[in-house]
Amino acid sequence: MNQIKKASEFFSSRRSVSVRNLKYPGPSEKQVMDILKSALRVPDHGKLEPWRIVLITEDNKKSYISMIEKRGKEIGIDSHKVEKSIVNLSKTPLIVTVICSPINDTKIPEIEQILSCGALCLNILNNFLANGWGANWLTGWMANDKELGRLAFNTSKNDFVAGYLYVGSFDESSTDRPRPQLEKKISYFQID
Ligand SMILES: Cc1cc2nc3c(=O)[nH]c(=O)nc-3n(C[C@H](O)[C@H](O)[C@H](O)COP(=O)(O)O)c2cc1C
Repeated sequence: MNQIKKASEFFSSRRSVSVRNLKYPGPSEKQVMDILKSALRVPDHGKLEPWRIVLITEDNKKSYISMIEKRGKEIGIDSHKVEKSIVNLSKTPLIVTVICSPINDTKIPEIEQILSCGALCLNILNNFLANGWGANWLTGWMANDKELGRLAFNTSKNDFVAGYLYVGSFDESSTDRPRPQLEKKISYFQID
C-alpha cells in the first residue's frame, strides 16, 4: 500500500497501474470491505442498484482460472492470450468483478443503469487507488464471453460483466500516459 494523498491532489494525478506492475500483497478483507463500502456511494437514478460485485481472491482464484482455461479452449481464444490472462490473474491478489444487471420493467432507461454501473467501476478503481493500492479496469474476452459470465457469475440474459478491477501492491515507478488536452475538450455554450 502506497502513500495516501488528499482528494484534490489525488484527482489531479490519479492513474491506473498496469497489471504488469501489480503484485502481492493485496489488501486485507477488512480493507477491501471498507473500500467497497465507500465505492458503493455512486449515482444511481431510481435507486435501482442495477449492479453487483463478485470477488476473485486467493481462496477461489484457482477454480476461476480452471474455468477460463477450459472456456478459452472451447471458444477458440488464442492460447497465448489465455496464458496471458492466467498469468495476470495469478500474480494479482484481488480481482473485483462488476456485473451490470439492468432492470427491464422500470421507467429508468437502460443506458442510465449502465452509466451507473460504469460510475461504480470508476468509483471502485479510484477508491483503491486513493487508498494507495494499484488498480486497473480491464474487460477483454473474459468479460465479453456471455457463457463464461453465466458459468462463473450466474449472470442472466440481460446481465454482463462491466469490468474486472485488478488490485494489488505496486512500486511507485510507472509513468503516466498522455492525457486529453483541456482546450480541445471544453467549449462554452453559445447561441449565434
Ligand atoms: C470499460 C473499460 C475497459 C477496458 N478494458 C481494457 C482491457 O481489456 N485491456 C487493456 O489493456 N486496457 C483496458 N482498459 C484501459 C485500462 O483501464 C487503462 O489502463 C486505463 O485507460 C488507464 O487509465 P487511467 O490511468 O486514467 O486510470 C479499459 C478501460 C475501460 C474504461
